[in-house]
Formats: sequence, structure tokens, C-alpha cells
Amino acid sequence: MYSYLNKYQIFRIFNEYVSHIPKKRNKLIIFSFALIFITGFFELINVASLLPVLKSFTASEDLNNLQIYNFIFQLFNINTNNSKIICTTLIFIFLILISNTIKILTFYLNARIAAVIGSDLCSKVYQNAICQPYYYHLSKNTNDIISNIITGSQIIVSVVNTVLRSVLSIITFIFVLIALFWINGKIAIFSLTIFSLIYIIIMFYFKTILKNKSAKIYKINVKIVKLIQESFGNIKDIILDNSQNFFIKDYRQVDLIKRKQEAEIDLLGRLPFYFIEALALISIVLIGLFLAVYLNDSYILPILGSIGLGLQRLLRSFQELYQGWVFVQGRIKILTSFLLYLNLKTNKYLLFSDKERFDFQKSIILKNVFFKYNENLILENFNLEINKGKIIGIKGRTGRGKSTLINLIMGLLIPTKGEVLVDGVNINAVQNERIKMKYFNSISHVSQDIYLSNLSFAENIAFGVPYEQIDINRVKNAAKKAFIYDFINSTIDAFRTTVGERGINLSGGQKQRIGIARALYKGSTILILDEATSSLDYHTEELVIKNIQSNDNCLTVIMIAHRLSTLDKCDLIIEL
Ligand SMILES: Nc1ncnc2c1ncn2[C@@H]1O[C@H](COP(=O)(O)OP(=O)(O)O)[C@@H](O)[C@H]1O
Ligand SMILES: [Mg+2]
Repeated sequence: MYSYLNKYQIFRIFNEYVSHIPKKRNKLIIFSFALIFITGFFELINVASLLPVLKSFTASEDLNNLQIYNFIFQLFNINTNNSKIICTTLIFIFLILISNTIKILTFYLNARIAAVIGSDLCSKVYQNAICQPYYYHLSKNTNDIISNIITGSQIIVSVVNTVLRSVLSIITFIFVLIALFWINGKIAIFSLTIFSLIYIIIMFYFKTILKNKSAKIYKINVKIVKLIQESFGNIKDIILDNSQNFFIKDYRQVDLIKRKQEAEIDLLGRLPFYFIEALALISIVLIGLFLAVYLNDSYILPILGSIGLGLQRLLRSFQELYQGWVFVQGRIKILTSFLLYLNLKTNKYLLFSDKERFDFQKSIILKNVFFKYNENLILENFNLEINKGKIIGIKGRTGRGKSTLINLIMGLLIPTKGEVLVDGVNINAVQNERIKMKYFNSISHVSQDIYLSNLSFAENIAFGVPYEQIDINRVKNAAKKAFIYDFINSTIDAFRTTVGERGINLSGGQKQRIGIARALYKGSTILILDEATSSLDYHTEELVIKNIQSNDNCLTVIMIAHRLSTLDKCDLIIEL
């Protein structure tokens, strides 16, 4: 990432972004570029066609030097001065109308392209982030991911739009310059030099300021996400501690800094324009003065008028280009960091829609496994064999590494050293990515905290299955085995009752039983219970466990229990 922080940062970033645009957008982009080219060309014609109009007002005989107009006059048999004036004016109006219609079309198309490309890129970032393995997320700050997805997706459409507008500005710029050359070469070169110099100096001066602002805004965005996540994730404690003010103050502070930085970036983009506009007006008057005094030219007005229009167009494209640069430069930090997410590699098998399962036949073996979080050694030369159909219990004081061991068995964590073999296959080997996906699909995992969606009981038990495809009898069976059937039936809409956000309407024990019902509905060959019955009373726990154990002898169960009596019926007990 730090290699981006060099001189040509913007172009490198641009190139990398372009490489992420899907090929299917090429046609649309080419079409839009063609339209942009035509729009630019019409700017040339616009500027150039004003001169004949103005000339026809003041000294129409001069028009005869213009071949196109001569041709038109002859074609329509226009002879009188007045009809020539009307004709040139009509041509000018006609051209302006066409040109602006094309311009509107271009803007419309650009906005559409920006929307689809923006959406392509944002979806890809979300996809890349969500498809990262578990250990990636453990090492990564969630606030950073969320902030990137939210702010990144907010700005990316504007950035694409800005880039397209800049292309339009460059094309317009070139065409207007050609028109100005046609009107007066010296003035064209003179204004080009002055304007470019001014803008280059400003850009040189503002670049670091903008970069710093973009970094500040980036940091604050992450902070705001963190603040929001922490405050609403702990709302119970905040209410009890009455610490709302603390969060409000923090929020106000960072939000204000962010808004100020954004406003300043915006201002830096606009400010030079007023200065340069004044300069341009003054130069037009000065050019007029020069023409009047030294050349004693009687046709000053037409030339001045068209130069004025040309300069105004030139200045406008300069300004657009500059403002686009400010916009991008002021968001350079989020753009580079968004790119990191775009560049992430993912396991392509994750997105397979058919949930193929691993046909577990024999055993899961942990062979000489070492595991550490950073420097904290959790497992040392650990060996374990779990045979199909057995019930394994894991016990040990809290913090000993029970959940870690389970995560290693499931393939969510990867041993620092050693192997996890499922039916002899090393699931963590790169070439076995596909097998690992299948292995994931054959596991049901129930933890202490069950994640519930704000959907109906039925949808929460048949998790991830579209409503029409849910086998309601199986749902009911699973609910019976998990001893939650009677409770669900007692609610207003029974299995159609919604559970509330994150299951807020339910008790801890009810959530756990729904989790167990979900695992049973999935019908996996391996069931893992990580203190999944911790919130149940002794009697209910015993009944649930009995149901699970008597399920069928193909099911392999690995369970961690805080009550040792729960482990009574296990074939093997591991103590950590
Ligand atoms: N993501 C993590 N990063 C660093 N240390 C962790 C992480 N998760 C757990 N630990 C540490 O690893 C040890 C084992 O944790 P865990 O497997 O959750 O224990 P148990 O499930 O037995 O209570 C604990 O000391 C815990 O602090
Ligand atoms: Mg645990």
C-alpha cells in the first residue's frame, strides 16, 4: 500500500481501478467516450460559430470570406444583409441547441455508467471482505471493513462520475483551444500558458494539504463506525450507566472535524475559480484595449466576443478538471484503502450455489498440532482422533482453549504447525480449498451466542433457505427435538412469528434451543456444540442432549459443556 504514496499515485490508483471494471462494461464505456468526443467537437463549433454571428451584426461583408457560409447563402439564395444576419443567427441557435442536447445525453450516460461501475466495484469489495477466511477477520478491525464499505461506496460513484467529466473536460479543452487558434493564435497560446501555470501552481501547493485532509477524514470515518457499533452494541450498559453524554460528546467532536475537513476540500476546489474568472475578464478587456489602440481594428467586437466565449469555455474545462482533481485527491486515502479490499484474493468455491457436502466416512485427526494467537501458545503438540458416529466431550476451565480447539477442528483456524486431517485429507492445504468448502457444509455449529435474523421462527430454524423451499415438517421435528416446539406454538403466529432483531424478544435459553433446532434441520454429519446448552436449566439440557444423542449413530457430536454431567454419555472426554 505504501508504494502508492509516490509521485504518480493518482495514475497508479486509476489504473488499478480500471483493471477491476468488469469487461461487460466496455461497450458502454466506449459509447460514452464517443459521445464525449462529439460533445467536445460541438463546443468547438459553438465557439467558432459565434464569430460569424457577431460579424454579421457589425460588418456583414466580411462574412463572404467564410466559405461554409458563402455556400449556405448561395444554396438558399440569401442576398440581403438582413437575411444573412438572420441566417447566421439561426445557424448559431440551431448549433447551440444540438450541442446542449448532446451534452445532456452525455451527462445522463455518464451518470448511468458511474452508477453501474460504482455498484460493480462496491459489490466486489463487499464480496471480497465477506469471503475472507475466519482468521482474516480475527486479525482485522471490523470497524475498518465497515467504514471502507460504507464510505467507499458513498464516494466511488462520484469518483467515477468525476473521472468521466474530466475526460469530457480534456476533450472540450482541446477542441476549444483549436477554435481559439482559429480565431487568434497568439491569444490562444497566451491564455493557455497563463491558465495552466496558475492551476499547476495551485495544484502543487494544495496537493499535500488535500492528502492530509483525506487521511484525517478516513481515520474519523473508522472512528465514527466504531463509536456507533460500540454504543448500540452496548445500549443496555449505556442506559444503566447513564453514559449517553459521553458518547454524544465524542460523536459531535469527530463528526464536526470531519464536516469541516470536507467543507474545506470543497472550498479548495471552488476558490481558485473566482480569482481566475476575474483574471479572465480583465484579460478580455485588456485584449480589447490592445486591439483598439494598436491595431485600430474596426472589427474588435466580433473577435472579442468570440474570444470571450472561447476563454469562458476554456476556463470552465480547466476548472472542471481541477475540481475533479481536488475531489479525488481529497479522498485519496479512502480510495487506496478501498483498493486493498478490491485486490483481496478469495476462495472461489465459496460462491458455489450448490451446497455440496463432504461425505464424512472415517475420522478427523489432529496431528502434532500447535496453535498460538500472536505469542500466546494455546495448543502444544496436540493429538486427537475423532471417529465417525462418536460423541466427544471437551471440558476444561474457561480460557483454556476449548473454543479454539473446536475452531481448529472445523477448519476456521489454521494450526501454527501440524495438520488437521479429515478422512486423511489435509483440509488446510491450498489445493484442498474445494474439499474444505464441502467440509464446512457438513458441519453444524451451535455456540453460546446464536445469531438470529429478524425473520420468522421457521426461517431462523431453516436458516438461509428461501421461505417457499422450507420443509415445515422437518422444521417442526427439529423444534421438537430441541424442546422449543411448544414455546413456538404458543406465540401469536406460531412458526411464522418473527423473533425480533437479533432475537431480542427471546431469552438466552430459547435462542440456544433455536440454534440447536437449526443445526438439526441442517442435517449435518458433524454437530458441534460449544456450551450450546449453557443457558438451559438442568432438566431441559438433559432432555435436549438425550434427543441429540439418540438421533442416529451416523452423527458425530463434539460438545463442550460447562456442566460435567452433560458429558456423561460421551464416548471420549478430552480435558484441556
Ligand atoms: N482472537 C483471539 N486473539 C487472541 N487471543 C485469543 C483470541 N481468542 C481467544 N484468545 C485467547 O485464547 C485463550 C483460549 O480461548 P478460548 O479458546 O476461547 O477458550 P475457552 O473456549 O476454553 O474458554 C484465551 O486465553 C483467550 O484469551
Ligand atoms: Mg469458549
